[in-house]
Amino acid sequence: MEKQKFYFIETFGCQMNVHDSEKIAGMLRDLGYTETSEKETSDIIVFNTCCIRETAELKIMAKIGDLKALKRKNKDLIIVICGCMTQQQGMPQLLKKRFPYINLVIGTHNLDMLEDYIRNYNGSKFKSIVWEHEEGITENSKIYRSSENHAFVNIMYGCNNFCTYCIVPYVRGRERSRKVEDIVREVESLAKENKYSLITLLGQNVNSYGLDFKDNKTNFVYLLDKLCKIEGDFKISFMSSHPKDFSSELIDFIARHEKMSRAIHLPVQSGSDEILRKMNRRYTSGHYKKLVDEMYNKIENLSLTTDIIVGFPGETEEDFMETCNLLKYCKFSSIFGFVYSKRNGTPAASFDNQVPYKIKKDRICRLFDLQHEIQRSELARYIGQKFDCIIEKDEKGRFVAKTFNNKTVKLKGKDYILGDKRIVEVKEINKNELIGEIA
Ligand code: 5AD
Ligand code: SF4
Repeated sequence: MEKQKFYFIETFGCQMNVHDSEKIAGMLRDLGYTETSEKETSDIIVFNTCCIRETAELKIMAKIGDLKALKRKNKDLIIVICGCMTQQQGMPQLLKKRFPYINLVIGTHNLDMLEDYIRNYNGSKFKSIVWEHEEGITENSKIYRSSENHAFVNIMYGCNNFCTYCIVPYVRGRERSRKVEDIVREVESLAKENKYSLITLLGQNVNSYGLDFKDNKTNFVYLLDKLCKIEGDFKISFMSSHPKDFSSELIDFIARHEKMSRAIHLPVQSGSDEILRKMNRRYTSGHYKKLVDEMYNKIENLSLTTDIIVGFPGETEEDFMETCNLLKYCKFSSIFGFVYSKRNGTPAASFDNQVPYKIKKDRICRLFDLQHEIQRSELARYIGQKFDCIIEKDEKGRFVAKTFNNKTVKLKGKDYILGDKRIVEVKEINKNELIGEIA
């Protein structure tokens, strides 16, 4: 009997990467490998990397360094480094120099070549297959989904926006959309499985979906309309959106369709018009606020989240205060806040007036304090209210209830059934969490 072979995948970064890892898992399982949560016992270790901020990159480098000892113990161990980090200029060469015991460095544009590499592996030394440019779209990937109730579906790849701080357009290439029929087929088959309560459509800027077809017909709302017609008990969410492209047509569509999730992620990045201009975001805080007003007016139970960068080059205390004012105005359900990180090759890396780390750190702390205060007063309004919920599991495997607008209610006790629909009453708030019980 052949010895059982194991794989270990560690994913860094965004949901796009989480989903890519599901494709890697699909390939490896097809080749007969079984998942393990221990690096020590695995035959293949894959790091699916991120380079959006320097902190991510440093953490990954340290972790690759740690693999040296494992490789020394097990000469047959296959080490694969893939994901955004590998697409940066000069990175494969740097990885080879620092970590010659890596077996394969593979880029984001040709990830599907991993399967053939592993199939034909014969103890080879360092190899790098990183395509400089994107080519078409690979369909029919084998996907091993990591969540029991939440599925990801790519609708497009790449980004054309070139925000001046962002590395993504350089490592993920230009925008290209999957065909409507291919996406519909994938969502139909997920709906048939009848276990996914949420399907999240993925793209760097989903609002420009389909525009590359130049057929004057296909756009994001056109796609959503097809997807909402698929039978089944599931909600559709999407990420990420760009405020400059978020149309009234889309807001109306979400408001009208039960299948559309009421949780919307709309990254604003800054509340200062001067900083937004330097970021090349192509909207003003006034435009953003108007958009948010329209959303709150039209979409019942909207739960809005955002991304903020503090300490972008040239950001003054006044600019930062404008971001704080925007938070007070928009009353986000939660925010993802980041300290600006210089990324080589992006325009902002060479802008004057880089903000000292101490000031960035101080601003991010104040930003989170303010947001906590806003959230606490918003959440207090929920105490005593009852919601239709679906029972799900959180990332630690504990049962939680998800409201229609994607709020999480922590549940007391343990006797629940995954996927069950129950009415949950919010009893109290603890820090920034809702705590409740079945009504
Ligand atoms: N520094 C800090 N945060 C960044 N983001 C993107 N690039 C950078 C950077 N260089 C943030 C943005 C984006 C989120 C995914 O990451 O807020 O929306
Ligand atoms: Fe980066 Fe801007 Fe594209 Fe988002 S829209 S991936 S922030 S360049």
